[in-house]
Amino acid sequence: MPFRTVKDIDVKGRRVFLRADLNVPIKEGVIKDATRITETLATLRFLLDGGASVVLCSHLGRPAGTGFEPEFSMAPVAAHLKGLGLDVRLASGVVGEAVEAEASALKPGQVLLLENLRFDKGETKNKPEFAQALARLADTYVDDAFGASHRAHASVSGMVPFMPAGRAVAGFLMEKELKALGKVMTDPEKPLLAVMGGSKVSDKIDIIRHFFGKADAILIGGAMTFTFLKAQGLPIGRSLCEDDKLDLAKALLAEAAAAGTRLVLPSDHVVADAISAEAECDITQDAGVPDGKMGLDIGPETVATYAEEIRKARTLLWNGPMGVFEIDAFASGTLTIAEEMADAADKGAFVVVGGGDSVSAANKAGVTRRMSHVSTGGGASLEFLSGMDLPGVAALH
Ligand code: 3PG
Repeated sequence: MPFRTVKDIDVKGRRVFLRADLNVPIKEGVIKDATRITETLATLRFLLDGGASVVLCSHLGRPAGTGFEPEFSMAPVAAHLKGLGLDVRLASGVVGEAVEAEASALKPGQVLLLENLRFDKGETKNKPEFAQALARLADTYVDDAFGASHRAHASVSGMVPFMPAGRAVAGFLMEKELKALGKVMTDPEKPLLAVMGGSKVSDKIDIIRHFFGKADAILIGGAMTFTFLKAQGLPIGRSLCEDDKLDLAKALLAEAAAAGTRLVLPSDHVVADAISAEAECDITQDAGVPDGKMGLDIGPETVATYAEEIRKARTLLWNGPMGVFEIDAFASGTLTIAEEMADAADKGAFVVVGGGDSVSAANKAGVTRRMSHVSTGGGASLEFLSGMDLPGVAALH
């Protein structure tokens, strides 16, 4: 591992700035999924048990950056942490004299949770004066915010040079994410299989390309299928398609072949005339979609083909659903793939779910815990798996 972690430094008596990604879904003050909080507890508890006090912080949603907005307050997160028995208080703001006094008053074992970093536009604009103000709150910097590591923001990368030399390290979640995703990219047991879904080829170009020459096969699902099929001259009915990406889809098919990676497309689909639970569904005879219909899930023949591929692989990455899995009529393909992935993990394959919608799909299938690794990053895991440098990771080197 080319960076140090909390295990490599002394923390006793230190005041630690812990940047976490506590950007959890909240509705009317209620946390709907606390996974990101749960996943950072190992680092938080390690620091507190080791005799540090902790200035904990995160962004939450996308406030305007013009000051306090109640619906984006970290208060529900503070309440959740208190409910876990932690000695946590919510800071009066993000930076400034009052917050500095609150941080100085911390005793070992106590946590000060800063208000939403994005209440100050210095965070997203990575302003040096804001970064310096954050750095004044502690003597040690721990980054556990893998989910935000693709943002060149003040708390993610900008403040690191303002910390004392040698006092910026990764937390356990950051380490776990980089190890698991890194293993898929650089040290996979073969065969390596990537299952890519989602609606747009344009969102997935970089990650698909990055797997050329590395993966034995890439299985395509979701609406981006239809851009590939149309590029090959097949009828796609009224299915979603990026018409301005047809040449790109053709180029990707040619590049995959040249790199020795099989780019596998669905051979049948579940179709309907509307994206609606009430719509009448049908299954196509082949990869074409009849006039007036939309492809909304992979069909049974494709599911069987993809399941075979999954059973043969030793390392698997899943990024993106196979269809409109939020509607039961179009969920079967995605849920079966999720089950197959979990079975593969049970049998010893290394299975990584690359964040975002695929995590919701794995949750819906009830198989999340059986996977080898489920990323807490959406955009961050996508960028990492596309081979991009993440500012939050680069800052720790
Ligand atoms: C996420 O939810 O992917 C991260 O917390 C980053 O949030 P952002 O896309 O608002 O920067």
